[in-house]
Amino acid sequence: MDIAINMINAEQPILPISTPASLDISSFGGDILGENTPDPLRFGFRRKLSAHAGGGSHNPIESNQIQPLVQQILQRTTPPFNKRCLYVHIPFCRVRCTYCSFFEYASSQRLIDDYFAALMVELKYKAAQPWTQAAPFQAVYIGGGTPTDLTAAQIKQLGTMIRHHFPLASDCELTLEGRINRFSDEMFESALEGGFNRFSFGVQSFDTQVRRKAKRLDDRDVVLKRVSELAVTDQAPIVIDLLYGLPYQNLEVWQQDLNDFLDSGAHGVDLYQLIEMGNTPMGKMVEQGRLPEPADTMTKASMFEMGVDFMAKHHLRRLSVNHWARDNRERSSYNSLAKTTAEVLPLGAGAGGNVGGYGFMQHRKLEHYMDDVNNQRIPLAMMVKSSPHAAVNTVIKAGFDRGVIVAKQLDKQAGWSLFSYCMPLFQQWQQHGFVEIEQLGRHRYLNLTLAGQFWAVTLAQALIQVITTATVTVQS
Ligand SMILES: C[S@@+](CC[C@H](N)C(=O)[O-])C[C@H]1O[C@@H](n2cnc3c(N)ncnc32)[C@H](O)[C@@H]1O
Ligand code: SF4
Repeated sequence: MDIAINMINAEQPILPISTPASLDISSFGGDILGENTPDPLRFGFRRKLSAHAGGGSHNPIESNQIQPLVQQILQRTTPPFNKRCLYVHIPFCRVRCTYCSFFEYASSQRLIDDYFAALMVELKYKAAQPWTQAAPFQAVYIGGGTPTDLTAAQIKQLGTMIRHHFPLASDCELTLEGRINRFSDEMFESALEGGFNRFSFGVQSFDTQVRRKAKRLDDRDVVLKRVSELAVTDQAPIVIDLLYGLPYQNLEVWQQDLNDFLDSGAHGVDLYQLIEMGNTPMGKMVEQGRLPEPADTMTKASMFEMGVDFMAKHHLRRLSVNHWARDNRERSSYNSLAKTTAEVLPLGAGAGGNVGGYGFMQHRKLEHYMDDVNNQRIPLAMMVKSSPHAAVNTVIKAGFDRGVIVAKQLDKQAGWSLFSYCMPLFQQWQQHGFVEIEQLGRHRYLNLTLAGQFWAVTLAQALIQVITTATVTVQS
């Protein structure tokens, strides 16, 4: 999954608009403070509205300035450099799943071949830029859509081209995202030969009824068997995504999904709460009475609790509030780097990224993307100057995703004692059961409780909103 763009600009400290030593929370309502309830896990907020916390406001670059500015950025060779990642987007899927808002184009071999040819042109061009060659990349992620809808030869070529043209760190993580459907031994071998060393498959649910109603291809036995076969080769970490809250996925089915994950031998798992987007086929089918309602927030909260308990009982290592690893091989480097201070170079239609204090969104429409690439232009639909709050927002988003805000990290990025300033809000959240404020010597932490972990994105959004309105940039 393409992650939200984060943008880094640590040059300008942000300071409170007015002088009080701490935030005035007297005018905040339940959307920021949460509810005062004995069961904050289930009733703490009304519902989670999006998968990622937003990044505050950004200043768009005028369209006639985009090309010269991006060319200028890609000429830069002066250190220090942030850690860097490469994100490559493959916007095709064989079938649209009912719940998904990431679907863009139906897979057709001719369309994929044309796209792949343009992608190779863009890849070689961006790889040759001085900025790209100036420092090693730590992680590469091929996301979608469904990258495993490429042919075996294309997957191998993509990995080979990236390794040949980009400077990669010696332990660089190269992830291929996709699905189990038609992921044959030949494709797996080709991907390994291409240099991919991590595989992330969307399983969503193993349950056959849930899968069929969501328009997932293959039934439980097929998916479970194939994940096990891939995991047992021990060639590379095999990680799966599970969704909770899909129609027909009751608590019993969810328990079975968790058991199936464990039995599959997969090396890692993401547990994602289903986010209902208005524009998905699922929304319309529910409206027309063709599908039962997906789980409500309370049920999803119970499912999250079951997942967390299950992983703890089975001694899986927790990498973030919703990602667990079975062994030390699974590092999930791309996700942790791209959510923190790394720069992300985007490749492909619909890819997003950030380089040099600017955020980029590439054209989603294939004709615009191909037209730009074939005419030696960088295929950007939008470019924004990062907000002065962006670096602080990134620390907040990454902290909530990890389950802890470290006071020193937040203060260092802000350039002043922002953690102390926010203390009235943190104390209110503590009273409401979302966090625990911990002081160990001179070190302070805001630890998320189970309820806080479930509402992590909502809390991050609230904190970002509060800080953005209560502070002002100071030109250095
Ligand atoms: C963009 S998809 C790509 C994965 C791959 N194409 C597949 O079919 O599994 C990445 C992940 O986003 C998650 N996702 C998709 N729709 C979602 C939704 N409505 N709410 C939450 N997560 C969602 C799924 O878990 C999925 O595995
Ligand atoms: S879940 Fe994957 S295969 Fe299904 S529509 Fe979304 S991106 Fe495509």
